[in-house]
Amino acid sequence: MTVCKTIQECREARESLGKIAFVPTMGALHAGHVSLMQVARQRAPRVAVSIFVNPTQFGPGEDLTRYPRPVEQDLATCRDAGVDLVFSPDPAEMYPLGSPEIAIDLPQFTTVLEGRHRPGHFKGVCQIVAKLFNIVQPQVACFGQKDYQQLAIIQAMVKALDFPITIIPSPTIREPDGLAMSSRNRFLAPDERKRALSISRALFLARDEVAKGIRQTNRLIALMQQRILAPGQLGHIPVYIDYVAAVDPATFKPKEHVDGPILLAIATRVGNTRLIDNVVVEP
Ligand code: PAF
Repeated sequence: MTVCKTIQECREARESLGKIAFVPTMGALHAGHVSLMQVARQRAPRVAVSIFVNPTQFGPGEDLTRYPRPVEQDLATCRDAGVDLVFSPDPAEMYPLGSPEIAIDLPQFTTVLEGRHRPGHFKGVCQIVAKLFNIVQPQVACFGQKDYQQLAIIQAMVKALDFPITIIPSPTIREPDGLAMSSRNRFLAPDERKRALSISRALFLARDEVAKGIRQTNRLIALMQQRILAPGQLGHIPVYIDYVAAVDPATFKPKEHVDGPILLAIATRVGNTRLIDNVVVEP
């Protein structure tokens, strides 16, 4: 496995690799990332992973400084997963002093849900993903459905800017009890983790209600909100809801009825940790 810190090293290492499937990450790798690497492996003879905590996608007061960076552990995970190339630059390599400001934006998708609650977040994501695509030059790139809106935005960006890259969506990987895997889960104290289970349980509850024939999304949203806010024995753990939404998975416009596929999406803060999750349900 070749590990590159600079853009030039990465370009040179990439040259001899032929067809590459790419998994961009911010590190703190978990089984969800490993499953993306496995999906990548099925799509191309060589797999590249980037590990970079991208400062431009964090807003003021967000968790950029405390975001975990277990570098050696991440490299071991990549090695075990049979990754060929890791690109792990420092922020100064990606954003040298004096770089001009640049923005790629797709406002139809970036002003709702995560975009509304994290202004500028998706501009930062598009900026870094476009840069990484230009540096790594993959033929295929894999993104998890846990960040459903990010995936849709990257697909739209690739189409709009004609990147010659196929985007492969990959399902959310969950802990055995249902909690969606996330690098931020490691911030959760044991009781917070138990409290965070209410997010996936709310989504599964709504999915079951749809299976039973409920079609009004306001009813589903109310049920999910109640499920998240019901503390049980864990009333000492504060939970704040950023949003509980039922939207069209292609346009992100709110839907009143489940008359086709619907994205149920939740963003909450459990203690100091912001968590998101989603499921797509169909009538
Ligand atoms: O999903 C992530 O980990 C990040 O948003 C990404 C795509 C690696 C860009 O920094």
